[in-house]
Amino acid sequence: TPIAVLISGTGSNLAALLRAAEEPGCPYDVVGVIADRPAPGLEHARAAGIPTDVVRLADHPDRPAWDRALAEVVTRWNPELLVLAGFMKLLGPPLLEAFGGRILNTHPALLPSFPGAHGVRDALAHGVKITGVSVIEVDAGVDTGRILAQAAVEVLEDDTEATLHERIKAVEQPLLVNVVQRLAAAL
Ligand code: GRF
Repeated sequence: TPIAVLISGTGSNLAALLRAAEEPGCPYDVVGVIADRPAPGLEHARAAGIPTDVVRLADHPDRPAWDRALAEVVTRWNPELLVLAGFMKLLGPPLLEAFGGRILNTHPALLPSFPGAHGVRDALAHGVKITGVSVIEVDAGVDTGRILAQAAVEVLEDDTEATLHERIKAVEQPLLVNVVQRLAAAL
């Protein structure tokens, strides 16, 4: 099953998806990686010889134009599933309509707690003792889609946002790979 991955950051989840794709019998194939900025994570795709593209909001007259440009690039690769792996923007109607129910996102908190761009920081600030990661279906809201999988991570006494996020990512990567494999196999 052809999948496209959207990123904004370091791409550790992308790297995990690419590693798993090399294993025999993996039910998906990464056909393209797109970023909304020159994300360092694009290197993982380039190293694997996978096409990449950057579509910046600042290069477009308005949000709807950016939404259309993003949808054009993504559909050019003919993916059947989209995976947002640390993609820090909301998707607009063109992609939501074209891929309804076939877009996944990963969020570093146990939704519905701590949605938004700072899930790790917000959980820490709230003083929760258990947080984790959620893999969800994307809808038009901010981290409001159907929850597909979750895993818990304990918050330690001396955790900082960075140390906690590091441990969340260690759990997040295999969880995301697992959900993508499950959905790709069913398509
Ligand atoms: C992940 O923890 C993701 O859930 C969050 O940002 C992080 C991105 O990490 N939104 P990476 O770019 O995959 O390394």
